[in-house]
Amino acid sequence: MNPHILILGAPGAGKGTQSDNIVEEFGVEHVTTGDALRANKEMDISHLGLEYDTPGEYMDRGELVPDEVVNEIVETALDEADGYVLDGYPRNLDQAETLSEMTDLDAVLYLDVDEDVLVERLTGRRVCEECGATYHVEFSPPEEEGVCDACGGDLYQREDDTEETARERIRVYEENTAPVVEFYDDRGSLVSIDGDQTPDEVWEDVKDAIEANADA
Ligand code: AP5
Repeated sequence: MNPHILILGAPGAGKGTQSDNIVEEFGVEHVTTGDALRANKEMDISHLGLEYDTPGEYMDRGELVPDEVVNEIVETALDEADGYVLDGYPRNLDQAETLSEMTDLDAVLYLDVDEDVLVERLTGRRVCEECGATYHVEFSPPEEEGVCDACGGDLYQREDDTEETARERIRVYEENTAPVVEFYDDRGSLVSIDGDQTPDEVWEDVKDAIEANADA
C-alpha cells in the first residue's frame, strides 16, 4: 500500500512545493484542499445558510472555508486515493478530529518557517494558469518572465497572495492551525523540518523523514 502522508505548515511554508516532490518520488496522489477549493470558488453553498454563498468569498479574505464544505471534499478525495500526501487539511482541531476518523497516517511532517520569510514567499509566488507549476520571482524564477518553463502557459499571482491577505492568512493560521501542529506533536507523531532552507535541502529532509517512518 502506498503511504499516507500529512504535510503541515503555515501559508507559504512550501507544502505545495514539497508535495510535488513527494508525488514524483513515492507515486502518491496530491490531495490539496486549496486547489480543490480554488477549482470550486464559485460553487453555490447558499443552501448551507453560512456567512457567504461561495468558497471564494472566504478565500479572498484569507478566512477558512467552513468545515462542512471542506470535510466532504477531503473524505471523497481520500477514499479515491491509493496513497496520498494531504496538504492544506486539517486546519483546525475539529478538522483534525474528523481526519482521525477518516484515515490512518504513516507520516506527519511539519515545515517550520518564520513569518517574514512566509510573506516574502507568498507575495513573490507566481502560478501557471495552464499546468499549476509554481515559481517565485526571486527564489525560483522562470527562464522567461511571466511564462511557464514547463508548458509555456501564462503565470499569474493568486488573489490571496497580496501582502494584506497573506498577513491575514498567517494570522488565521496562528489562531486555528498552529494548535493542530501541537495536536500531532502531543501524539508523538510529528516530524519537524526546518523549512527555511533551499527547496532542495528541505526536500532531502522531507525524503529522509518519510523513508525513516517507512523503516520504523
Ligand atoms: P491553500 O491553497 O492551502 O494555501 P496555504 O495553506 O495558505 O498554502 P500555500 O499554497 O499558500 O503555501 P504552500 O505552503 O503550499 O507554499 P508553496 O509551496 O506554494 O489555501 C488557500 C485558502 O483556501 C485558505 O486561505 C482557505 O481560505 C482555503 N482552505 C484551504 N484548505 C482549507 C481547509 N482545510 N479548511 C478551510 N479552508 C481551507 O511555496 C510558496 C512560495 O515560496 C512559492 O513561490 C515557492 O516557489 C516558494 N518556495 C517554496 N519553498 C521554498 C524554499 N525552501 N525557499 C525559497 N522559496 C520557496
